[in-house]
Amino acid sequence: MVDINIAVVFACVVPFLFFLTAIWRLIFRDAGEMPRVTLLVLGDIGRSPRMQYHALSLARNGFAVDIVAYEGTDPHSELVMEPNIAFHLIDPPQKIPARVSKLVYLVLAFQRVIRQISTLMLWLIVVVPPPDFMLVQNPPAVPTLLVAQLSRVFRRAKLIIDWHNFGYSIMALNLGSRSKIVQVAKWYEQLLGSRSHIHLCVTSAMAEELRKVWGVKGEIVTLHDRAPKHFRRLPVSEIHDLLCRLDFTDLEIQYLAGDKNFPTKSLITNKPGAKAAPVFKSDRPALIISSTSWTEDEDFSILLEAAKLYDAEAAGGKKLPELVFVITGQGPMKEHYTEEIRKVAWKRVRIHTAWLEASDYQLLLGSADLGVSLHTSSSGLDLPMKIVDMFGCELPVCAMGFKCIDELVQHDRNGLIFGNATELCQQFVELFGSFPASAPKLEALKRGTQEFQKSRWDDNWNTALKAKLKR
Ligand SMILES: *[C@@H]1O[C@H](CO)[C@@H](O)[C@H](O)[C@H]1NC(C)=O
Repeated sequence: MVDINIAVVFACVVPFLFFLTAIWRLIFRDAGEMPRVTLLVLGDIGRSPRMQYHALSLARNGFAVDIVAYEGTDPHSELVMEPNIAFHLIDPPQKIPARVSKLVYLVLAFQRVIRQISTLMLWLIVVVPPPDFMLVQNPPAVPTLLVAQLSRVFRRAKLIIDWHNFGYSIMALNLGSRSKIVQVAKWYEQLLGSRSHIHLCVTSAMAEELRKVWGVKGEIVTLHDRAPKHFRRLPVSEIHDLLCRLDFTDLEIQYLAGDKNFPTKSLITNKPGAKAAPVFKSDRPALIISSTSWTEDEDFSILLEAAKLYDAEAAGGKKLPELVFVITGQGPMKEHYTEEIRKVAWKRVRIHTAWLEASDYQLLLGSADLGVSLHTSSSGLDLPMKIVDMFGCELPVCAMGFKCIDELVQHDRNGLIFGNATELCQQFVELFGSFPASAPKLEALKRGTQEFQKSRWDDNWNTALKAKLKR
């Protein structure tokens, strides 16, 4: 009953497709043609920055890129305008209703995966022109790796797996690593992920894991994330323009409606006259940005606790500047924590939440004084992209420590690493003790981020990957 029809049609159609592909290749593959890459993301491409950067790098290096991904947020405008990139966007699979019995859930989940596989296979081996390379993002591993391996065989393309993390380790966060389902998922991921032309890894620690523990076949290449050039520190005038568009009166930041005719004051800037350039206020608060998915694995309570400790210290007679925290992101625990924030009688600390457009988030990073990352990794082998973006804007960070964080944040060079709320509070005091008049430590860390930014995504990509993409 369950999608038998699709399965049967699929079984008959596949050999035919195989034949069709062979013919297609004979006709369309001549030596002068551009090399082609199919880029597969089982997710919202607009929310997959790394895959978008891959697409741009490929396109700029003379590859024709076909992006197969789920319909969602708009991709970056540079991708949309790039003539070498074609989009093939598919409707995302429907969510399985949460309140059904276990058996019904399994049946529905199975049905969903079969549908996903057949739809994707149709796109990958019929609709999209035959590629030389297939670049896929993992996780999600189910059914990505299966689909990628099958279509690579049909299309005789070379597979490149871009390992952002391990799918099974994310699953283990909810189910525990001993769960049978997690173990099956691990087996599946290792079986189908072990054979690839190139394995791209986000950290050296992950590359080591693939080499030593998994023993994968194929070349292993570490490609650290770097922010592209449009992430930058803003001049005061642009900071003024951005902050004047935002309303900080409520806990949740709102966009100010309409045109407020040359506002003269923002949270941290002043415009002394109609024609004068904006300047920082001499008694301004420090602006601190954190983004969180408001989930269990990013423990917001640490930041909340550190803010309370700072507030007590600042109110208790020590001369400390006011801190304004802006926390961006959406997620399940947000309600809970906004209630917690409201309950506190803050004196020298303000905490705001915000849900900003992507382009404004980038500008906010370029306006802030410090970033905070609460991310800890499910596998201990991946790094938070949001720190990469912060560094792109010359923003030093305080980052929660975990296994391979030092591949990105170097303590006392481009940021500070903390383990608990007390330490984080001490770091705030250390960095902002005499702010804004002077902040030598913050300035030193900022220079560290500039150093880090000397190699941007393009340079990194060209060095690590470009020469390896010969068909
Ligand atoms: C926080 O971390 C520091 C340094 O590791 C440690 O000395 C301190 O006891 C910790 N505090 C708490 C409350 O766990």
